[in-house]
Amino acid sequence: MKLFLDTGNIKEIETYCAIGIIDGVTTNPSLMAKEAGDPREITKRICQIVQGPVSAEVLATDAEGMIREGRDLATIDPHVVIKVPFGKAGVQACKALRTDGVRVNVTLVFSATQALLAAKAGATYVSPFVGRLDDIATDGMELIRQILDIYRNYDFDTEVLVASVRHPMHVVVAAQMGADICTCPPPVVEAMFKHPLTDSGIERFLKDWAVAKGANA
Ligand code: E4P
Repeated sequence: MKLFLDTGNIKEIETYCAIGIIDGVTTNPSLMAKEAGDPREITKRICQIVQGPVSAEVLATDAEGMIREGRDLATIDPHVVIKVPFGKAGVQACKALRTDGVRVNVTLVFSATQALLAAKAGATYVSPFVGRLDDIATDGMELIRQILDIYRNYDFDTEVLVASVRHPMHVVVAAQMGADICTCPPPVVEAMFKHPLTDSGIERFLKDWAVAKGANA
């Protein structure tokens, strides 16, 4: 399973890309609004760092506007993937941008029917928001299972990008189900590294070494 970072913050992207476990980045208008500077320049810099797919979201709400904005954003860097919100306009824009050869991530997906329509429009990625579904007492990961089942039935090329990830168990279940990608905010990636037995294990190894070496000195 590929791991994307869900942030527009250059420092966070540099930190986790340096470790070598990040395959791509997703941004959205809320995340980009938190960052100071020109969004185009930030997007360009993210692409240089990650050297993988970087989702940049359109702000337009009509199909023509999304297509225009998407074509423009795609000129920033070959790694840019155009993120369009699900809806009639988004699906229409997805189809048109894909015809141009531009990769598209259809976002804000909350049902299997929406995911089916996005795949029919040739979406490169579909982004179901599992955390926001959990927030309204609906099983977000069950939606992932439904979408994976449907896509496998028909051999759609669309990759399932699990989004709105809130904790490591979302990542574990996504991997068990065979989702293509999980996009995680940095605190979730941080939590994936942690285990108290690893920390105490390192501490014990170092202590045992120091005691033995001290005794032999
Ligand atoms: C995905 O591409 C979105 O940027 C993101 O996962 C949204 O997550 P949120 O529900 O935590 O805002």
